[in-house]
Amino acid sequence: MNSYGSFPGARPRRLRTTPAMRRMVAETRLDPADLILPAFVREGVTEPVPIGAMPGVVQHTRDTLRRAAVEAVEAGVSGIMLFGVPEEAKKDGLGTAGTDPDGILQVAIRDVRAEVGDELVIMSDLCLDEFTDHGHCGVLDDQGRVDNDATLERYAEMAQVQADAGVHVVGPSGMMDGQVGVVRDALDTIGKEDVAILAYTAKYSSAFYGPFREAVGSSLKGDRKTYQQDPANLRESMRELALDLEEGADMVMVKPAGPYLDVLAKVAESVDVPVAAYQISGEYAMVEAAAEKGWIDREKAILETLTGIRRAGAGMILTYWATEAARMISAGRR
Ligand code: PBG
Repeated sequence: MNSYGSFPGARPRRLRTTPAMRRMVAETRLDPADLILPAFVREGVTEPVPIGAMPGVVQHTRDTLRRAAVEAVEAGVSGIMLFGVPEEAKKDGLGTAGTDPDGILQVAIRDVRAEVGDELVIMSDLCLDEFTDHGHCGVLDDQGRVDNDATLERYAEMAQVQADAGVHVVGPSGMMDGQVGVVRDALDTIGKEDVAILAYTAKYSSAFYGPFREAVGSSLKGDRKTYQQDPANLRESMRELALDLEEGADMVMVKPAGPYLDVLAKVAESVDVPVAAYQISGEYAMVEAAAEKGWIDREKAILETLTGIRRAGAGMILTYWATEAARMISAGRR
């Protein structure tokens, strides 16, 4: 009896008493197979180039990318999402290097496919911003605005060259209206009906993309607010979701992850296709920076962020920690 004359009727703490008990009742488990590694490959470099705002992440050479793919397989990671960084001189208004069959992204897809075959799901970013000199995700009209329908034609061509290079999944990330439908048609037209589409369904105009812009050497001056979503909106994502599914998306994604867990949860409960979340560059950078200062426990923080994203409903998580986190998860089980 306590001094108030009663015992608590329920004691949730009983189920938290030992590690074995906590493990048994855990509602969310991480598995290496949930993880997908985003990776950058830079044209014309002989050594990997560190990315200042993403300590531990590099712009790979063709060789180190192959090695990173093998390490991901060995760690049990499911997929790799490739981003190409072309030579500066090859950028132009149309992002021509993005549709060149010998462009860096296509070369990287072929390299990784040759190295690991079907052991990893090979995915590619289908967007023009890495290849345009103005840094936008599409082509511009004569008033400097991103021209939706002209951009769709570029995406169709890009999907076809990526498919020809051997990609398993394309990830249209430019937030143009109608992009999933156009990409599906373009793939089917050349007999690539088995290439799947991971739709960037809810992609917000986020400050947390900052480090990525360095990672791909983006020349963007303005912002992407006329095509990426306003962080204030949730219902808008449900509209984007309905459209992507109608247009043939095989999987859908929410991005960024951490600041948008409510969107993720709502998307996940609304669909029957696989749901992914992208833990983006700024989310990575925040944890790394705080850990470097000794302000948080790095490994615990990494696993906690991934657990939160999984708990909110993502079956797949794109994270720059994929290989390391997969190893941590496996080590934790032994
Ligand atoms: C578009 C693209 C971006 C990211 C993935 N695909 C940049 C953007 O939309 O501005 C960001 C990924 C990250 O920040 O980690 N090509």
